[in-house]
Amino acid sequence: MTVSVCVPEDVPELVKSAGGLFSEDAGRHDPRMDLGWPDREGAAYYAELVDDPDCLCLLSGGGHLIGRMRPLSDLRPGAVTAVLESMRVGPAHRRSGVGAELVAAFFDWAREKGANEITVTAYAANEGALAFYRAQGFRPFEVRLAREA
Ligand SMILES: CC(C)(COP(=O)(O)OP(=O)(O)OC[C@H]1O[C@@H](n2cnc3c(N)ncnc32)[C@H](O)[C@@H]1OP(=O)(O)O)[C@@H](O)C(=O)NCCC(=O)NCCS
Repeated sequence: MTVSVCVPEDVPELVKSAGGLFSEDAGRHDPRMDLGWPDREGAAYYAELVDDPDCLCLLSGGGHLIGRMRPLSDLRPGAVTAVLESMRVGPAHRRSGVGAELVAAFFDWAREKGANEITVTAYAANEGALAFYRAQGFRPFEVRLAREA
């Protein structure tokens, strides 16, 4: 499956895939998430990312990956961090290595940008994503806990 870097014409496809991710992931795991956000704000948000040299927008297999370099922080002077902001592979293409290809392309980009760490967050209940990220070498680093107020 070909992994391609998004150009401005790809923004509608990016919005579609991000919408699919919102409904499949946040829709199941976060009752407070605004699921209408991709349709309402996605086009402007992703158009800006596609043009930003510190962001990477990839498409492949009816899916996408968004990565970005985090601004340097005085609090962690040793860290140059690339963040995997979101990713999704179309259901028909899962478990055939597409996700791993997307992540490998992101890792290459992040290293070229000088990153020395790569982070991602996932819902604790999204066991498939956690297993996938573990298979890509990610390990728990900090854990966000939540409860009803
Ligand atoms: C998570 C996701 C991106 C993985 O993409 P994928 O193309 O299916 O992943 P790959 O085929 O490259 O999988 C590589 C390895 O990761 C692990 N893995 C992937 N999906 C898994 C799952 N659902 N359960 C357990 N292990 C999994 C396996 O070790 C797999 O290797 P194998 O198939 O040889 O056993 C895809 O399932 C997806 O889009 N899920 C819905 C959206 C989502 O949850 N995104 C992440 C939000 S944080």
